[in-house]
Amino acid sequence: MDRNGVEAVKARINIADVIRRYVDLKPVSGRWMGACPFHQETKPSMSVNEEEGFFYCFGCQASGDVIDFYQRINGLEFREALEALAAEAGIELQYSQPDPQAKEQQRRKKLFLDMHDEAQEFFRNCLNHAVGEVARNYLNRRGVAPEIVQAFGLGYSPDDWHGLDNYLRSRGRNSEDGVEAGLLSSNQKGNIYDRFRERLIFPIKNLSGRVIAFGGRIITDGEPKYLNSSDSPIYKKGDHLYGLDVARQSMTRTRRALLTEGYMDVLSLHQFGYTDSCGVLGTALTKDQVKRLAGFCSRVDLVFDGDNAGRKAALKSSRMILLQGVACRVVLLPDGEDVDSLLQEHGRDGFEQCLDRAQDGLSFCFDYLGREFAPREIMDWARNFLSELSDQSLRAYYLPRIAQGLGLAEAELRLTAGAAIDRKPPSGQVQVAAQSSQQARSTGKEDKDDRYFMKFPIQYPEYIPALVEQGFENVLSSQWAPAFWEKLVATQPRADLTRLNQYEKRFYIQCREELRENTLVGKELLDEWEHICNKIAAGQQKMTVEQLKQSLKEAQQTGDMHKVKECLQALNDCLGRENEQH
Ligand code: UTP
Ligand code: MN
Repeated sequence: MDRNGVEAVKARINIADVIRRYVDLKPVSGRWMGACPFHQETKPSMSVNEEEGFFYCFGCQASGDVIDFYQRINGLEFREALEALAAEAGIELQYSQPDPQAKEQQRRKKLFLDMHDEAQEFFRNCLNHAVGEVARNYLNRRGVAPEIVQAFGLGYSPDDWHGLDNYLRSRGRNSEDGVEAGLLSSNQKGNIYDRFRERLIFPIKNLSGRVIAFGGRIITDGEPKYLNSSDSPIYKKGDHLYGLDVARQSMTRTRRALLTEGYMDVLSLHQFGYTDSCGVLGTALTKDQVKRLAGFCSRVDLVFDGDNAGRKAALKSSRMILLQGVACRVVLLPDGEDVDSLLQEHGRDGFEQCLDRAQDGLSFCFDYLGREFAPREIMDWARNFLSELSDQSLRAYYLPRIAQGLGLAEAELRLTAGAAIDRKPPSGQVQVAAQSSQQARSTGKEDKDDRYFMKFPIQYPEYIPALVEQGFENVLSSQWAPAFWEKLVATQPRADLTRLNQYEKRFYIQCREELRENTLVGKELLDEWEHICNKIAAGQQKMTVEQLKQSLKEAQQTGDMHKVKECLQALNDCLGRENEQH
């Protein structure tokens, strides 16, 4: 990571200016306050600290610096957010990429993205010119509005085995790269030809709005009905959602995602005003897709056919969503309809009726299980569900709800599910999640103590040098605090938020926020400082006593009487001093 770049971006870009693009900020006693865009909120719960460059929501505890905010509201990776902000500020980022292989990969990816832009241009041109008349007629027949064609960048691939291939070559590209990019196909003889022919083209974009793949619907007779780009270095099936780039702004507003199966369904939903809709692209919903959505919304409304296959798919998808701690509802459509046909025939009213009948995801699961599964299958389902939850607090949330849904006593379910939970091997990622939630909740005494200790240098960084001298690190007994303390010392007086992990960052910002409400001055501050000093001394005392006791024991075992005497003397001195203090 380019640390100088990060610093430059943060120095050049004012966090309040960026947040103001999404949130109405009002000055309240020397800071900015607004309605938090990360949870459903109308009251001003989010505070923006321009001077220190962070935001904090008192409602949902969302917090971070300008890059975190930009990343989260736009659903970007850190690097994407950094690049976008750097471009805005006119800062050139220096990537330290000593690895030539990584550099080459980067170069290939950029090449493929550029080739997708060119392909997109080609398909759109075709749609708009004489050759695209069939596709224009098709769109008309299906009632797709011109604004939607425009917003989703639809195109047409003509009945030509070398249309795109030739176009790309005229732009200096070579056909083999086209195959690797997933745009062209090659047969066994090694002949290269257009993958998409005579199809209506749907560009698939990533969250930065770059085209990374295409879907194509046949508009004459032929098979298959839909064809997608093959996987490539820039596109992996199951990672992306169709239309999310268009829908995400609305989603952050409504905090909901309407999730459907088809390309045409997404277009119609947007056309009829459901601008928080996106599509899963013909595969089962994946964990990555749910995670992507979870960045924007707190609830996913799943739309499925009302038939048996649709319900079965709804069960799998709601399970996947609930496991990630995201709420969901299941919307079932009348027999023989899909969202697109329903909207085109019955308009919003027709669809609203289905939405009104939507069922809560978990209760949908129970109904389905009760109807289709044998008792032991139901219990297996519940056990599996609970054992797959990575987060302790989520398990605590679901246990009573699942018990109730199955008509069991919570204690009984805990007992039978407990075995499955304990047996579960901790995979890397799960363990990290569990660990950080443990930290965040900080139940243990050590955590609580260290939160108390760490708050002081965060709020009064002018004391950091003195604390270093006193051996502050010796009082920190939790797993997390020593590393955090080291980072604070390294960048004092103010922490570098980019170096802090999520947990540290939130804690830091909370402490700084609290300071606004309650700043110790004069005698109060000195008393607090003295209290901390006493704690440090007491901690060191305890450590010394323990060491002496250990040495004493060893000396006694080896029969070193001289050493025993020495240790006893030292212990006496030490404990005497302790008694004086109390
Ligand atoms: P559907 O067959 O329900 O089509 O497939 P649709 O979306 O209603 O399309 P229209 O209205 O007939 O034009 C649902 C989704 O499954 C994927 C596509 O993403 C499609 O939108 N699919 C379907 C494929 O990937 N390949 C196929 O051959 C068929
Ligand atoms: Mn359809």
